[in-house]
Amino acid sequence: MHYPITLLPGDGIGPEVSQAAVAVLEATGLEFRWDQQDAGLVAVEKGLPTLPAPALESIRNNRVALKAPITTPVGKGFSSVNVGLRKALSLYVSLRPVRSWPGLETRHRDVDLIVFRENTEGLYAGREHEIVPGVVEALKIVTREASLRIAQYAYDYARWTGRHKVTVIHKRAVMRLSDGLFLDCCREVARKYPFIETEEMPIDQVAMNLVLDPTRFQVLLTDNLFGDILSDLCSGLVGGLGIVPGANIGDECAVFEAVHGSAPDIAGRNKANPVALILSAALMLHHVGAHQEANRIETAVARVLAEGRVRTGDLGGKASTTEMTQAIIDALPSPVETLS
Ligand code: NAI
Repeated sequence: MHYPITLLPGDGIGPEVSQAAVAVLEATGLEFRWDQQDAGLVAVEKGLPTLPAPALESIRNNRVALKAPITTPVGKGFSSVNVGLRKALSLYVSLRPVRSWPGLETRHRDVDLIVFRENTEGLYAGREHEIVPGVVEALKIVTREASLRIAQYAYDYARWTGRHKVTVIHKRAVMRLSDGLFLDCCREVARKYPFIETEEMPIDQVAMNLVLDPTRFQVLLTDNLFGDILSDLCSGLVGGLGIVPGANIGDECAVFEAVHGSAPDIAGRNKANPVALILSAALMLHHVGAHQEANRIETAVARVLAEGRVRTGDLGGKASTTEMTQAIIDALPSPVETLS
């Protein structure tokens, strides 16, 4: 059986980390039918729009994509391809599991939480305009439909994964109507899950509590902007952007990508940490039901990080992207070992 997957190698460190993720996926023995598509700068250089129709069509057909980061040029009239993709495919759930890895020196141990971020609206709806020179307006869009569906997904996920608490994050004291609606929708969904504790917390308090003791959180449920910021904050708690995976999920399709961006400062130098996209690829395998191979990849990453001999610069080591990738491939447990 071949898994048909759309591959978006992106730009910056994208091609390096996507090559790494593909190598690890193929080393599991599964077979894939890759449909590689251009988007972002790579597409523009070929005279195409930033989000070409064939790329969207490929994801709609295959229903699953592995996506490396794509640069959003600032001040050149480009809108974010990443935001555009999530809106075009209605990928309303952004899911980012953040966990401590034994062997990595971090301030906190035993962090194990998931950030759920509403992925299609809020301040990232892209409704910005200039009223008169010197005055601009950005609209924060919040709908009942989008708020209910992200809350529903987060609570369901908490139940499937045996998590007992959901923290709903807001700034209702200031944004009474928009965050008020989001909070009301989350409460409506929470009532269906009396066995899951719900706490509501303003974003500023969450930021402080995350830094003081992230282990008190299990599931963070929030809007697009707060979720974006908290994802990076949480990544910093467990070792940085190089190791945190992510998924964008809708009713029809799912796109798997790391939290990190295209890292232009280290692009093309074989320095990027491939782990975040490799773990995103493992999430993708869970999504398509290949749990055993996904678990093997996660075990291999855990082994390499715990041993500490091969690490990229962001984790304090000297290894290259390709060395780190090879170490993970070498550490893959055999299928028999995984079963025993
Ligand atoms: P960034 O995540 O690309 O980089 C922030 C810092 O983390 C840099 O110092 C970088 O070297 C480091 N870093 C990131 N990933 C790393 C990895 N795998 N291994 C080692 N170090 C890593 O964030 P930045 O600089 O704000 O964004 C750069 C570009 O990426 C922008 O155009 C932004 O719009 C885009 N971006 C794209 C995303 C996506 O495609 N999903 C997500 C976030 C940003």
